[in-house]
Amino acid sequence: DMDDYSVSQWNAMVKLAEDIMRRPESYADKCRGKIMATLFYEPSTRTQMSFQTAMIRLGGSIIGFDNPGNSSVSKGENLKDTIKIVSNYADVLVMRHNQEGAARAAALSADCPKEGAPLVAAMNASVPVINAGDGGHLHPTQTLTDLLTLKTELGRLDNLTVGLCGDLKYGRTVHSILKALSCYKNNKFILISTPSLALPQYIKDVLHARGCEFKEAATIEEAIGECDMLYMTRIQQERFASREEYEKQKGVYILTREKMQLAKKNMIVMHPLPRVNEIEVEIDDDPRAAYFRQAKCGMYVRMALILMTLNNTITANPLLTGQVHHECRCTNPRCITQTEHYLPHSFRKYGDIMICEYCDERILLK
Ligand code: NCD
Repeated sequence: DMDDYSVSQWNAMVKLAEDIMRRPESYADKCRGKIMATLFYEPSTRTQMSFQTAMIRLGGSIIGFDNPGNSSVSKGENLKDTIKIVSNYADVLVMRHNQEGAARAAALSADCPKEGAPLVAAMNASVPVINAGDGGHLHPTQTLTDLLTLKTELGRLDNLTVGLCGDLKYGRTVHSILKALSCYKNNKFILISTPSLALPQYIKDVLHARGCEFKEAATIEEAIGECDMLYMTRIQQERFASREEYEKQKGVYILTREKMQLAKKNMIVMHPLPRVNEIEVEIDDDPRAAYFRQAKCGMYVRMALILMTLNNTITANPLLTGQVHHECRCTNPRCITQTEHYLPHSFRKYGDIMICEYCDERILLK
């Protein structure tokens, strides 16, 4: 997760990505002889292909699967065994999974640096695992993409008013970008969603704790005029319990040319993509539509991330910092601990609440 690194490390990554953009040829051999594995348990176009091209452009090689049905997962292999095996083959793993906390769980199995392990020994033994999206939880490398996009488009990561629109509940890109942008000075947020797709409380608590100003809005029209950046998102059909629920939500928020007329001349529209119908295709020709340029930034920032990870220029915080409570179970049905039963039940305590370290679900202590 983004939280596993410091703000100065994010900034260093963005800076390196900017240099790679300027002179890509100087980086063409930096990962020669290194292998990256992409383990994609969920569909992906941009994230997977940008990671793969990033590694190829650094001179490294790639292995992996994009359909777990073709791997031993379909024979019932657990995550731990798959990760143990692949971490013998590759120098860095990139994983997307439909269950929340899966990347953290995988990192535990991949001998990533653990708390208490001597740093050098840990670094020599480690195979880093990069989270390429875990269920409706987080998507940190999309956020790195978004930071680089903001930096190249608007020149700054602070003093921004950002509108976030659509599926704020299941939209993992929204959770990660808010966790990151709330660390920079004087950013304000407008959360545009229906009540049933509102931002999870734990992310609101992060905004509160960091003293960020934010408000909720019911329509794009009432918010767009204030925004320096509008972050549109897809309604995450695959996360809904029923088709009817999804049908009720889709099509509520559509960015049209009329609505764009209410926006500042230098506002930008971002979207992690894929788009379904939430941005009219006509808007693509508006110079403020930054989403295709954003997708390109994804490749450069992932080059920077791979490079810094393999060079040990960045090392993550300990994976688990809470306490193991054998008797306590996470109640989130989408949490990785529901199916991977060997995982330690690790929680952070927060007043009367226990927070699952894999998926951030809160459990009230009785
Ligand atoms: C996003 C994702 O997978 O969460 N896409 C991406 O990685 N660029 C957003 C989405 O699927 O809607």
